[in-house]
Amino acid sequence: MGTDLHELLRSLRVWDVALPSFDPTTAPADPLPLFTAWFAEAVAAGQTEPHTMSLATSDEEGRPDVRTVMLHGADADGWAFATHATSRKGRQLAARPYAALGFYWPAQGRQVRVRGPVTLAPSEESAADLHARSTGALAAALTGRQSQVLGSLEELARESEAAWQRAGREPDAPVPTWTLYRIRPDEVEFFQGDARRQHVRLNYRRTEEGWAKELLWP
Ligand SMILES: Cc1cc2nc3c(=O)[nH]c(=O)nc-3n(C[C@H](O)[C@H](O)[C@H](O)COP(=O)(O)O)c2cc1C
Repeated sequence: MGTDLHELLRSLRVWDVALPSFDPTTAPADPLPLFTAWFAEAVAAGQTEPHTMSLATSDEEGRPDVRTVMLHGADADGWAFATHATSRKGRQLAARPYAALGFYWPAQGRQVRVRGPVTLAPSEESAADLHARSTGALAAALTGRQSQVLGSLEELARESEAAWQRAGREPDAPVPTWTLYRIRPDEVEFFQGDARRQHVRLNYRRTEEGWAKELLWP
C-alpha cells in the first residue's frame, strides 16, 4: 500500500538485455514470413506467452477499446483470433469490422503491429478451431455470457464447473457464439528496439501492386 509508484517506475528499464539487430534490407517482400520468423525467434528466446496479443477495436462511436487475446494462426488469409460474437469486442466488431493487434516480445525488444479489416470465419471452421483446442478452452467457451455483468463469484464457479463437466463428457459440444475472426492486414509494422534508441521500424503497406515497404522514424 505504501508503494511509491513513480519511484518504482523510474527504477525500471527497457531494452536492458542484449538485443538482436535487424537489417531491414534483408526483409522479405511479404510480412508473413518475417512475422513467422520473429515468432519462432521469440519462442526460441524463451519469451513467455509470445502468442498473446493486444486486440484493439472501436465501438459504434469510434471510441477505442483493447484487451488481450490469443493468436490462433497467421496465413495468407490473415491473423486469426477467437472469441464470443456476443462479447463486447464481438459487438464492436459487428458495428466496425476493423481492428489492430499489438505483440510485444521484450526478450528481444520486438514489437509487431497489425491492422486491417476483420472477417468472420464460417461457423463450421470456428467450431473446428475450438474443438481442436484444450478441454479448458472448450469449458471457458461453454461458460459463455462473456462481458455481461456477473452477480457473484459463486455463480461463476457453478457455471464453470458445469461447463468443465460438459466439456469433458462432450468434447464436440457446440458453442454457437464462439467465432474465429481474421484480420487481413492493410499494414504490418516490425519494430526492433535498440539500446541506443536507434530503433528500426519497418512498415509493410498493402497496395494494388502488392506490399510496399518503408522505414519509419522511431
Ligand atoms: C493471456 C490472455 C489471453 C486471453 N485470450 C482470450 C481469447 O483468446 N479470447 C477471448 O475471448 N478472451 C481472451 N482473454 C480475455 C480477454 O482479455 C477479455 O477479458 C475478454 O475477451 C472480454 O473482452 P471484451 O469484454 O472486450 O469482449 C484473454 C486474456 C488474457 C489475459
